[in-house]
Amino acid sequence: MSQALLKENIEKAQEKIDADKPLMKNAKMRQRFHFMAEQGWINDPNGLIFFRGKYHFFYQYNPYDAYWGAMHWGHAVSDDLVHWEYLPVALAPSEHYDDHKEGGCFSGSSIEHDGKLYLLYTGTTNYGEGFVQTQCLACSEDGVNFKKYENNPVITAPDGYEQANFRDPKVWKHEEYFYMVCGAKKDNLAKALLYRSKNLKEWEFVNVLAESRGELGYMWECPDFYPMGDKYVLMFSPMGVHERTTVYLVGDMDYETGKFTYNSTGEIDWGFDFYAPQSFLDGKGRRIIVSWANAWDWMPWWKDWGPSFKEKWCGAFNIPREVVLCEDNTLKFVPVEEMALLHYDEKRLENVNVYNQKIPFEAGDGIAYELRAKIDLTKTTAKRLKFLLRCSDKEQSVISFDLEKAEMKFDRNNADGWSKGVSRSPLKKQDKKTLDICIFSDQSSIEVFADDYKNNHSGNVFADNNHNRNYIVADEGSVYFTEIITWGMKTVM
Ligand code: FRU
Repeated sequence: MSQALLKENIEKAQEKIDADKPLMKNAKMRQRFHFMAEQGWINDPNGLIFFRGKYHFFYQYNPYDAYWGAMHWGHAVSDDLVHWEYLPVALAPSEHYDDHKEGGCFSGSSIEHDGKLYLLYTGTTNYGEGFVQTQCLACSEDGVNFKKYENNPVITAPDGYEQANFRDPKVWKHEEYFYMVCGAKKDNLAKALLYRSKNLKEWEFVNVLAESRGELGYMWECPDFYPMGDKYVLMFSPMGVHERTTVYLVGDMDYETGKFTYNSTGEIDWGFDFYAPQSFLDGKGRRIIVSWANAWDWMPWWKDWGPSFKEKWCGAFNIPREVVLCEDNTLKFVPVEEMALLHYDEKRLENVNVYNQKIPFEAGDGIAYELRAKIDLTKTTAKRLKFLLRCSDKEQSVISFDLEKAEMKFDRNNADGWSKGVSRSPLKKQDKKTLDICIFSDQSSIEVFADDYKNNHSGNVFADNNHNRNYIVADEGSVYFTEIITWGMKTVM
């Protein structure tokens, strides 16, 4: 155990960050209001917590390259979830259990205990016979500088489970115990394993909290488990089920047996770029989730890391969303109200009937904006409603609502010359009388929320600044908007 080596590796990482930082000023694809790392590569949100009056984001971070490798934990704090201050790297590979160049300090979570901030993360190494993942502990008195626990790892994979697939501890407190859920794989099926502890150091296995019978894949990355009302939610990013990047289950928890039974399931986001969400409870009693705006399935692995790679950075987080439990035990995911702090130049239209037409709309500079639309379906006859976003002379991203076939789509096959694919979801049309749509556009991503925030698509679009025209299209009939409001979004990143 060498605290000195951890310190040295953090300092080395900081030097690289400082060297790259000036380059970010000329980077054209950097987001303006979505959270990003200072440079380099970012993936999952980790250790999200509201601690001593501030929001803390930690994140999977490779400061040395703009692609995935040797995982560190980056760290930033905020008073309001939109303005961020970067802090020194919190964790760097330094120990035999987490120092492999294709491993490192993998995803995990945080918790406050006795006034200190504890991180639980997966150490990933390779002693020569394949990857070994174990759960490890680190602690901080000041919320900035962390020490790894001298008796790490605190949990190793149980017999019969793959050591290479045992990761992403999420910890919470219930009555007198700390509990932890971890993703695991056995007999080619995904399992969520439940542990408990009184002190975060000694853990006992409780039960398999929930598992896949095949229909939910062979491994669950970043499982998260939390109460909502009198129900519990389990969410995870399943591997081996293709387009399903993040799934939620709603049901009941029995702490006596350590079993979760569920009766409702859904998608948190249907888009291509939403993965590994993590939740936390904030100072206002909200359950907020934050995710990585990307998904492994869609990355052209090890070949092409995307347009921002050339600018020496890659990856961002999606907008923080508040989780709300609905009466039918489904969930909705509402962008946090703090996003409104970034609004400027409000434009409001009321009672607009768009009939077989393509009309431009104004929103900020046409690149970074929010749009909210309310449609009266009882006065709408069109077969399709489309939003053509971030258009140049030749390219566009198309969000379409097929009111006849009840389908929503996000098509980016002609968006930017790089991004591909059409994400689709069933369109419920809410109560059949109204349809609410909310769109956030940023420099290199679009997030769309529909059906009262239950039907959401996030997609990256690497469109440059001449893609700044935006339109609404009503096809084969009319669309009646009771309200269309747009705001420009200020630059804070
Ligand atoms: C999810 C994930 C996690 C892992 C981390 C490694 O994106 O694969 O399961 O801990 O990323 O960076």
